[in-house]
Amino acid sequence: MTVQLNAAKQTLRRLLPAPIRRRLRATHRDLTFRITMADFRRRPDEYRNPDNPKLAKLIYGWGNAGWSGWEDFLAGCVDEALNLEDGAVVECGTGLSTLLVGSIVTSRQVPHIALEHHAEWADNIQTWCDRYGLSTQVLHAPLMDGPDYDWYDTTNIALLATATLVLCDGPPGDTKGGRSGVMDKLAPMVTSGTRVLMDDVDRPAELELTRVWADRLGSDYEVVGRKKPFARIVVR
Ligand SMILES: C[S@@+](CC[C@H](N)C(=O)[O-])C[C@H]1O[C@@H](n2cnc3c(N)ncnc32)[C@H](O)[C@@H]1O
Repeated sequence: MTVQLNAAKQTLRRLLPAPIRRRLRATHRDLTFRITMADFRRRPDEYRNPDNPKLAKLIYGWGNAGWSGWEDFLAGCVDEALNLEDGAVVECGTGLSTLLVGSIVTSRQVPHIALEHHAEWADNIQTWCDRYGLSTQVLHAPLMDGPDYDWYDTTNIALLATATLVLCDGPPGDTKGGRSGVMDKLAPMVTSGTRVLMDDVDRPAELELTRVWADRLGSDYEVVGRKKPFARIVVR
């Protein structure tokens, strides 16, 4: 059966002109995303499990592979968001994780702000949030040049006083100092019990940043995930 299906796919590939093939692929992605997002919004609990294959469908459907969080991080974000009854979420860097977390916290009336340095991407993500009726605020904050690192310029942004959950998946690693600013800039919002998720700790810079920040906070951290791990600090 699989052999026949593959043969049929190859024949279709030969017969269909490239623009139609592209259109079909885009439609397939779009449908996959809408269907899986609807499923996620009905039963988010199932997406706590990084082995749930529907997470891969969301990533595929979202269509920003290479930039969106992987299953480990997304499942970690979902898990932490589902544990929140109150408090507030601050996210650095936006994308699929923003939609997943926003979908959960909106109904719990937990504020969620997401900092984004890229103006068009910020508009795009806010449009997606609005489409799903999320209360998430995507705040465009261009990167500001600093002596050791660039960081989101939050001069004109009313940040939350405290955050119970900090999600750090930006700014991108190739900016000056990468995510180093998170320790200094978000430190005033961090309080006992705050959870910090740092993605991409397979990269030495992000792992070291987590180690230093946890140390500074007198807290422990754990590395979570098998495919592409993230780190979790629970602030003492
Ligand atoms: C690693 S991404 C954040 C991903 C997000 N946590 C998710 O789950 O989709 C960090 C930043 O990369 C930038 N970014 C996202 N997609 C991009 C793309 N396709 N090309 C270049 N930059 C991108 C955005 O500015 C974003 O804030």
